[in-house]
Amino acid sequence: MSQSLAPAVTGIRLSLHVLAATIWVGGQFTVAGLLPTVRGLGADAPRAVARALARLLWPAYAVLVATGFWSVAAIPSASETMAWKVVLGVKIGVVALAGIATWLHGRSRSPGAVAVWGAIGGISSVAALVIGVFLAG
Ligand code: HEM
Repeated sequence: MSQSLAPAVTGIRLSLHVLAATIWVGGQFTVAGLLPTVRGLGADAPRAVARALARLLWPAYAVLVATGFWSVAAIPSASETMAWKVVLGVKIGVVALAGIATWLHGRSRSPGAVAVWGAIGGISSVAALVIGVFLAG
């Protein structure tokens, strides 16, 4: 079977979606991994890094939502099976949960709430990524 290249516009749409996913998911993992080092830099350092991270994460989230709906519009509905549509619906819910949990994580003050919302945000972000790979087929 021959493997063909994606059309240019599809390539741009998916590249933007995947680039934003690397920033949204990878940014969370990278900063979580760097946190012990950041804590050693001073009491104010974690909050300053969290603010800087938010300036990267939220534009990436906006790009994910915009390019995600662009994909939904671009994919011919005749090619979408019922299972694909159900999984897309699940993904939209998981993406909303990821956004809400990450936002609450940033606003929380107690260490328990910071940890719980951070974990929910991280797990649901990875779930959205995995579901996306299955949607791409
Ligand atoms: C946290 C947010 C999100 C993450 C991490 C994410 C991640 C991904 C990834 C990694 C892919 C696979 C791309 C590929 O293999 O080429 C994908 C595909 C896809 N995503 Fe997302 N996504 C997010 C949000 C959204 C939203 C909000 C929507 C729709 C409203 C959406 C709709 C889609 C669709 C339809 C595909 C398949 C595209 C195609 O086959 O052309 N995504 N996503």
